[in-house]
Amino acid sequence: MSEPRLVPNPLVAKGAVGSLVGESRAFHRSMPDYRPTPVAALPAAAARLGVGSVYAKDESRRMGMPSFKILGASWATYRSLLAHLGHRADSGIGLAELRAELAAGPDLRLVSATDGNHGRAVARMAGLLGLSAHILVPEDMVRERIDAIAVEGAEVEIVSGGYDDAIRRSAELADARSLVVSDTSWEGYVEPPSWVIDGYSTMIGEILDEIDAGNIPRPTVVAAQIGVGAFAAAVARGFAGRTGTRLVGVEPTDADCMTASVEAGGITTIPGPQRSNMAGLNCGTPSVIAWPDVSSGYDTFVTVADSAAEEAMRLMFGDGLVSGESGAAGLAGLLSHTGALGLGPDDHVLVISTEGATDIANFNRVTGAALVAE
Ligand SMILES: Cc1ncc(COP(=O)(O)O)c(C=O)c1O
Repeated sequence: MSEPRLVPNPLVAKGAVGSLVGESRAFHRSMPDYRPTPVAALPAAAARLGVGSVYAKDESRRMGMPSFKILGASWATYRSLLAHLGHRADSGIGLAELRAELAAGPDLRLVSATDGNHGRAVARMAGLLGLSAHILVPEDMVRERIDAIAVEGAEVEIVSGGYDDAIRRSAELADARSLVVSDTSWEGYVEPPSWVIDGYSTMIGEILDEIDAGNIPRPTVVAAQIGVGAFAAAVARGFAGRTGTRLVGVEPTDADCMTASVEAGGITTIPGPQRSNMAGLNCGTPSVIAWPDVSSGYDTFVTVADSAAEEAMRLMFGDGLVSGESGAAGLAGLLSHTGALGLGPDDHVLVISTEGATDIANFNRVTGAALVAE
C-alpha cells in the first residue's frame, strides 16, 4: 500500500467536461420519497482546516436509503427498462405504469455488482417494480451491508475476490431475462452507467440551487471521493465551468485507480483486491465513461489512509453529521493534504457526505456514538 500522495492533474482541460442533464431530476421528483437533501455547516471542520467555511451535502437519507446511490440506480434502471421494452426515453411512462407492463410480460431480473450502496439501491428499484434482483458482492463485504441488500428482497451472491471480480461475474450473467444495471462501464457496456452519472445530476443540481440562491457560499474548493469515478464525473459536470472553484479528487491509498490512471496518462487497472475501510471506493479500474470528465475536470488528485477517513468521520460527527467511511473520504482528503493544497481563510469548502452509517458497528467504534439500526 502506498503512502498518501498529492498529484496535480496534468490532463486538466475543464472546457472538455460534459454537462448535467435535467430529465433525471424531473423523474426523481415523481418518485414517492423525493425531496432535496440538506446542506450542513461544519464549523469544527472549518476551524480544523483553517478555512472560511465547510459545508457538507448530507446524503445519509436519500429517498429512504442511507446513500446518494439511489439517484443513479433509479434513473439507470428506469432508462434500461424503457429501452428493453422498446419505449422512447421521453415516453413519460411512470413507475406504476412500468410496473404493470412488466407484470404482464416475461420474467425479468435486475443484475448488479456492488461494493454496497449501488447494489442495495438496484435491489430497492427491483422491489418497487415487482422484479427480482441478483446482486454480486466482493467476499470481504461486511455482514451488515450484505444483509441490507438481502432485506430489499434480492438474491446476494458472494464472489471470491474484490469488486472488479464481482463486476466480471455480473457481466457474464447478462442474457435475455437478466438486465445488468452497473454503475461502472467497460468496453461495449456504456449506456446504463452513463444513466447512473446522469441520475447524480439531481444531487448536483440541488447543490447548485443552494449556491445560486446564496444559501451557502460559492465554494473555492470541492472535494469528491472516487471509486470508479461516476460520482466524481457528475461533480465535475456541475463545477468545472465555475471559475474560482478548485476540484480535488480523493481516493484511498489502497484503491487509487483514478490517480494511478492520471499519472499513467490513461485508464489503468491496479492490483487487487482493494481492502480500504472506504468500502464504496474499493475499485481497481476507473469507469471508461467517467474517465473523460474526471481526467479533464479535476485540478488535483489526493490519496488518503484509512485513519484519515476515521478522523473525518469523528470531525463530522462532532459537527452533528453522520457520515460513513466513504461518505467522509472527501473531507479526509483535505485533512490529509491541507498544507500542500494551500488551504486558507479565504477558502470555502464543499464536501459531499455520500453516505450515512452503512456499517453501524464500525461507525460507533470510530466515533464513540451509540447508533442502532433503524
Ligand atoms: C458512499 C459512496 N461514496 C462515493 C462512492 C464513489 O462513487 P463512484 O464509484 O461512482 O466513484 C461510492 C461508490 O460506491 C459510495 O458508495
